[in-house]
Amino acid sequence: MDSTNQLLKPVTAKINESGNIEIGGCDLVKLAEKYGTPLYVLDEETIRSVCRDYKNAFKNYPKVNMMYASKALCTMATSKLLFDEGFGFDVVSAGEIYTVYKAGVDMSRVLFNGNNKSFDELTLAIELGVGRISVDNFFELSLLNEIAKSHNKIVDILLRITPGIECHTHEYIQTGHLDSKFGFDLTQVDDAVELILNEYKNLKLHGLHAHIGSQIFETSVYGDEIEILIKEIARLDEKFSLKLDEINIGGGLGVKYTENDCPPSTYTIADIIIKRLDDCIKKYNIEPPALFIEPGRSVISTAGVTLYTVGSSKQVPKGKKYIAVDGGMADNPRPSMYQAKYVAGVANKKEVSSSKTVTIAGRFCESGDILIDGINLPELEEGDILCVYNTGAYNYSMASNYNRVQKPAMILVNNSQSDMLVKRETLEDLISHDEIPGRLKK
Ligand SMILES: Cc1ncc(COP(=O)(O)O)c(C=O)c1O
Repeated sequence: MDSTNQLLKPVTAKINESGNIEIGGCDLVKLAEKYGTPLYVLDEETIRSVCRDYKNAFKNYPKVNMMYASKALCTMATSKLLFDEGFGFDVVSAGEIYTVYKAGVDMSRVLFNGNNKSFDELTLAIELGVGRISVDNFFELSLLNEIAKSHNKIVDILLRITPGIECHTHEYIQTGHLDSKFGFDLTQVDDAVELILNEYKNLKLHGLHAHIGSQIFETSVYGDEIEILIKEIARLDEKFSLKLDEINIGGGLGVKYTENDCPPSTYTIADIIIKRLDDCIKKYNIEPPALFIEPGRSVISTAGVTLYTVGSSKQVPKGKKYIAVDGGMADNPRPSMYQAKYVAGVANKKEVSSSKTVTIAGRFCESGDILIDGINLPELEEGDILCVYNTGAYNYSMASNYNRVQKPAMILVNNSQSDMLVKRETLEDLISHDEIPGRLKK
């Protein structure tokens, strides 16, 4: 069965009677007028449709827990929406912990990940009752045990391991290969377990965690990852009489950024995962563990588009035609970081046969600030509204204030209604943390 992560555009995207693109029943040109640009727009119906896919796809494994990876996009409103849809949360910083906490999320459904969690972050996690901490290395085991002891608490943990799986995605978003900065190497697991069982009395180990990469299109890698985790659980039981009953397989399911991308359906992935899990449970003779999955990109990417206003343009003699927009690498760093590809439409112009190949340039002071290098679009003029698709994940969450430009606003659209989720930063916001030392004021 097809699923929402396989779509290029939000489920509600269409051309309306005025000939403009509309999403969630809202005309994008009117949204640009009302809220200004650049503008992040999220379609609620698409987010809920993805959530339905995940719930239905995994319904045959009763012990499944979906943990949304907040790093893809973290705001209070999206956290509340996803929590109401049944998701727990994978968080990686005090900021993400605090955001889900303030959104009213049940903190026992939160898992704290990361390769260098600080003393303050671990303390906050313990004080706010974060449900699981996925411990990444020996230093953290010792630090966490100390903090837990000083709070007189037993902290529930997983061990993050590096399963040694290479998946074919950009090297910056591969994480499960052996030479990775994340997690315990399989050869280090016994030492970690011995420390937990014999010395770190304030830690309770529940299971193993791995994450093999992001924007994954291969289906077999998840089966391989499950086999490694279950085999390891069986081995630890044999060696230490340790009953671990949780496996967390991370996230990574891909989305369709361009027509050339063919991500697998959530249903296909779920079938592969559940089948391999059932096989491994029999093969290694263990009790069925609770399964945790941590999708980020595939939950939120397709729901998001970014609106920009077209400004200047430049025809290089015998070269490219550059069209500049009012945003770029500070609101979407992915093209300059990962050579990520996007497609776009013109919100106020129909696709026409006389389209031109242009390069969409950002407004930031880097030659590499190119949002789309080569796309066929109707002839663009100053003031046109460009809609870049599939920007829900790793855009706002990776945004910066480069060139001291304010971060855009974010809105949620549904049933012809639009609501502010994140206000546009003001010039005052930009200087609000600055201080001029007294001696410079003289
Ligand atoms: C540990 C962990 N879990 C989940 C995710 C989410 O991955 P994705 O957004 O590709 O689903 C990541 C992304 O880097 C991660 O590091």
